[in-house]
Amino acid sequence: MKVLGIESSCDETGVAIYDTEKGLLADQLYSQIALHAEYGGVVPELASRDHIRKTTPLIKEALAEAELSLSELDGIAYTRGPGLIGALMVGASIGRSLAWGLGIPAVGVHHMEGHLLAPMLEDVANGKEQSIAFPFVALLVSGGHTMLVHVKAIGDYTIMGESLDDAVGEAFDKTAKMLGLAYPGGPILAALAKQGKAGVYEFPRPMIRQGGLDFSFSGLKTHSLTTWQKSDQTEQDKANIAYAFQEAVVDTLFIKCKRALQSVEAERLIIAGGVGANIRLREKLNELKAEVFFPPMKYCTDNGAMIAYAGALRLQAGQTEEPVILPKPRWSLEELSAI
Ligand code: KG4
Ligand code: ZN
Repeated sequence: MKVLGIESSCDETGVAIYDTEKGLLADQLYSQIALHAEYGGVVPELASRDHIRKTTPLIKEALAEAELSLSELDGIAYTRGPGLIGALMVGASIGRSLAWGLGIPAVGVHHMEGHLLAPMLEDVANGKEQSIAFPFVALLVSGGHTMLVHVKAIGDYTIMGESLDDAVGEAFDKTAKMLGLAYPGGPILAALAKQGKAGVYEFPRPMIRQGGLDFSFSGLKTHSLTTWQKSDQTEQDKANIAYAFQEAVVDTLFIKCKRALQSVEAERLIIAGGVGANIRLREKLNELKAEVFFPPMKYCTDNGAMIAYAGALRLQAGQTEEPVILPKPRWSLEELSAI
């Protein structure tokens, strides 16, 4: 089964083709980072308009890359939510209409399920069997979400803990912005942290003492700002703050992952979402007494491949939907059905 996947929930237009027999046949990505950079964050209306410009050309590129014609597709998957409503509307309209015109099934994919299954893409992209056995705990860390999820099967998700305020990626981006770093701040702050000295600042590890698996990162952002304001504001101070911030975030995630694994006696942890690209986080989580899986770097941040893959699994299991265009900007993982 050859499935075209379309991702358009935020600021990347991703289009990929996944074949359930041969693996990934095409993977096209257009990032809007340059478009939003001068505003220091994603401007929703600009994002929607750019998705309109880019989605159809990328579909053509993906078909050319896979050496397929439209009539050879067996199904279409698009990101139904969560995300920016205008941006989601573009992928949903194009994906749903194309499926209708071609007379093939379509399925709206949950963006976070796409991220969650991305660590399996390494194997399946090369046409191998997926190697991560259920059940496992997933740490989803992106610009919009921070969650620990108990994954018993595909679609059978229990949220064990989540952020009560800023998502981890958001905290990275906002802290970077306060320190005057360029957009998007997460990877830039992480790069700067490498120049930082250990032991200069020690930042708190939020919500550790009270037990439980929820997170709160907005205090760390404020702590970074006041530390910066009180410092001499040299480049070294900036790097030291970046270092202390990153250590506090990574350590907090480490402690909560350990706790989550213990609470359900799981032996496997998978990391997904944009912040999963963070090298320090990868190093630290590898210290856990568990099997730890990360997606390949290019599948950490938003992409079409994870949507094509998640959609293909659902279409293959016979799940389809009514021919209506109905994006879901707010959508909990727990509402999904198991396959
Ligand atoms: O999953 P993603 O591409 O988009 C969302 O669905 O949100 O995640 C993007 C987030 C941004 O906040 C970005 O700054 C962060 O992931 N990010 C990083 C790194 N690379 C991306 N944060 C810390 N360190 C990184 N290396
Ligand atoms: Zn994402």
